[in-house]
Amino acid sequence: MFQNARVATANLPEELADFSISPPMATGPWSKVYRGECARFGSAVAVKMFIDPLNGRPAANDAQNYFDMLTEISDAGASDPLFAVPKPLLMVHDMATVVSEWVTGVTLRRKLATASTRQVRDAVRDAGRWLGCLHRSFGVTYRRLDTEQMLEKLFELDGAQSARASNRIRRAIARLRESAPGVGDDEIPWSRLHGDFKPQNLIYSEGRVFGIDIGEPHRNAGVRDAAHFLNHLHLLLLSPAGLRHLPFRERLVEAFHEGYQSRGGVLPRRHLEWCQMHAAIRMRLNVGQWSSPPKAWVAALQINGLLESLIRRLSP
Ligand SMILES: Nc1ncnc2c1ncn2[C@@H]1O[C@H](COP(=O)(O)OP(=O)(O)OP(=O)(O)O)[C@@H](O)[C@H]1O
Ligand SMILES: [Mg+2]
Repeated sequence: MFQNARVATANLPEELADFSISPPMATGPWSKVYRGECARFGSAVAVKMFIDPLNGRPAANDAQNYFDMLTEISDAGASDPLFAVPKPLLMVHDMATVVSEWVTGVTLRRKLATASTRQVRDAVRDAGRWLGCLHRSFGVTYRRLDTEQMLEKLFELDGAQSARASNRIRRAIARLRESAPGVGDDEIPWSRLHGDFKPQNLIYSEGRVFGIDIGEPHRNAGVRDAAHFLNHLHLLLLSPAGLRHLPFRERLVEAFHEGYQSRGGVLPRRHLEWCQMHAAIRMRLNVGQWSSPPKAWVAALQINGLLESLIRRLSP
């Protein structure tokens, strides 16, 4: 849609006619993100267009959800620099597009490649704190983790039950099954989830921490957001850019818990590890869907490393 600044200006609807937009900086099946300039807003803006991956059409509901979420959190987190989101500026319904403040800073993923381990640890603590703030500000209730349904959904995935599944996947699934009854018995904190909370979706800027890419409204156990984050962090530590921090992984995990607890939240360890294992198996089974070889092979190797570590931790 927006190919370059000139084409963009010619094709834009009225609401965006005075925008100058650069080529997309991120393109995926669900969205395209552009950096733009617009005198009306006085600073650079992020233009995110939401797409329905099934038919390539604008996904207006997703855009509206993102816009509403940014608005709600901007209001809730106004006074806390460690619980920020880009300020929402404009919603263009027909184009399923959200315009927000452009945040100049670095993602946690980038920090892993460039910062010292101490700086990374502080950033991970702040990430825990951001998530603790999100969960607390949407109200916490106590419910059981629906382990049975989670297992059922996992078994529906291609390869989960097949004889061709690798020995590692079979061991991981067995561990998950064995530990499900104990994990599913307790009532644990539930809240409104971020849905894709990971180092790539946090931007650090001048003492503030911004969460981006928040998904559709969905309540579930808070440990599920934390599990997603810690799995992605672990995978980045297994990548060349993050490898030098790998020996300090446990300290980074502790820092994440410290940050989360500093906002009054609790992430029960056993339930968290169970959700990490569940999410890691799902990621391993789906790896071919979100990347193609040779990237998928590298990702599969890294997820194997994660699975081995989780198999050890989830021992009876
Ligand atoms: N408001 C913003 N300010 C600065 N950079 C941004 C902003 N929004 C997005 N970005 C940049 O664009 C990248 C992609 O944005 P985002 O995470 O929203 O989408 P995505 O991960 O590509 O999409 P999705 O997961 O929805 O398909 C981010 O990692 C970040 O570098
Ligand atoms: Mg993202």
